[in-house]
Amino acid sequence: MSNATLSEARKRQGELGQFLTPAPVADFMASLFGPLPEVVRLLDAGAGAGALTAAFVSRLCRRNDGVRAIEATLFELDPFIQDALSKTMQDCGQRCAEAGIRFTCTIHATDFIHEMSALLAGDLFATTPPAFDAAITNPPYRKISIDSAERRALRSVGIKTSNLYTGFIALIQKLLVPAGQIVGITPRSFCNGPYFRPFRKDFLSNLELRRLHVFESRNAAFRDDSVLQENIIFHAVKGRNQPRELVISSSSGEHGDVITESVLAFAEVVHPHDAEKFIHIPSAPWHAAAKETMDGLRSSLASLGVTVSTGRVVDFRLKNSLRQEPQKGTVPLVYPCHFDAGTVHWPKPQSRKPNAILDNDETRPWLVPSGVYLLTKRFTSKEERRRLVACLFDPNNVQAEWLAFENHLNYFHANGHGLDRNLAVGLFAFLNSTVVDQYFRRFSGHTQVNAGDLRKLAYPDRDTLQAIGIEMKSLDLPQEEIDELVTKHLHAYK
Ligand SMILES: C[S@@+](CC[C@H](N)C(=O)[O-])C[C@H]1O[C@@H](n2cnc3c(N)ncnc32)[C@H](O)[C@@H]1O
Repeated sequence: MSNATLSEARKRQGELGQFLTPAPVADFMASLFGPLPEVVRLLDAGAGAGALTAAFVSRLCRRNDGVRAIEATLFELDPFIQDALSKTMQDCGQRCAEAGIRFTCTIHATDFIHEMSALLAGDLFATTPPAFDAAITNPPYRKISIDSAERRALRSVGIKTSNLYTGFIALIQKLLVPAGQIVGITPRSFCNGPYFRPFRKDFLSNLELRRLHVFESRNAAFRDDSVLQENIIFHAVKGRNQPRELVISSSSGEHGDVITESVLAFAEVVHPHDAEKFIHIPSAPWHAAAKETMDGLRSSLASLGVTVSTGRVVDFRLKNSLRQEPQKGTVPLVYPCHFDAGTVHWPKPQSRKPNAILDNDETRPWLVPSGVYLLTKRFTSKEERRRLVACLFDPNNVQAEWLAFENHLNYFHANGHGLDRNLAVGLFAFLNSTVVDQYFRRFSGHTQVNAGDLRKLAYPDRDTLQAIGIEMKSLDLPQEEIDELVTKHLHAYK
């Protein structure tokens, strides 16, 4: 290519936000779709030379999982790339024919923003917008000024955004059927930029995030095009119930590189009370470090002289002995609702659960002598950032000779008795650390935390746990401080 043609092409590329997806990245994106209907109406907006549709088609042809037809609709504005796009679609048709899948395709050499906004706004009399089961997209990136035609078109359908790519995604979302899926590759800027707040709110209220993938180096995905953008790939499903957890993965972006995966609580990615709705993505090296740290631990719970058991009181079996408030002849009955800022706050006024249980011949076998115990919740709510939530039972705060732990919690004890305080506090910090939470999510698929899972975990040795316990000045430390303390001791331990 001559210098003049090259600079012409670069200029056009800039104007159109044209950066083509390399085949391995396109294939990875196509692999993220969940089960699809028998007839898939696919949308590829900003199709370029058709790399994404091609990857989607080729995955479905290989997968052979019941898809009988693909009806593809593509939008591409650039007249210079139309020939390449048509050729790719011919190849897709060929592939599908060989795999026994019916393939139809409609290419619109038009402006996706204008055309779809007009349809969605109802400007085009008697024409309804199309509906799609799946969308795969690498939309163009370009700022759109406040008085531009694009901004006006998007505003007419209630979309407030300042970049072409978020405009594309917001429109695509509106065109998906309920439970329709989108896989997109875009800049990462929408995750936390203040300008993207309305977009994030719209995105998170209409699309359920299922997967995020980030590249470790800034220009990894589009190496050849020297795009200095941090890119993200997401898979989301049209719906209003965010999952409890989602997979976040990362890779270097090199060909054939290793993908590191972590499972995170949705509440950790988008904090429930954050009005900004930032999407937090922990860095991949950190997760790798967490795994390495945990792999270095050798002590079993038994070797620490500690046992973990499920709370022994199953309340409905001892109904007659339950008391709303403590009274003579009762002992404290501890539920997860008594967990508060790292310790047990008992009794709980206006609690929905009874605060006490009679101490009699029927209940005594289910009670434990008072002491320092470490408790964990067996079930955590969607809003909780960690799956493991540990809390200290401190006998200095709750005066009693005997105690009852309810069945929705696990308690760590020394042969049926309380624990050494520093050891218990060390365990408290360890179990509440992000390192453990992360590790736990990786190998435990279900959301309950049973005593058996806690028994299987590897722990630091007794000295390390006690040293952590001594250094914990309060049980109500922010997560970052717990993590810092635990990481410091675990590194010294290695
Ligand atoms: C980032 S490129 C991605 C191309 C292709 N999907 C891929 O992944 O290789 C975005 C494409 O959108 C096209 N485009 C830009 N503005 C558009 C618009 N308003 N309507 C339709 N296509 C547009 C560009 O010409 C470019 O080919």
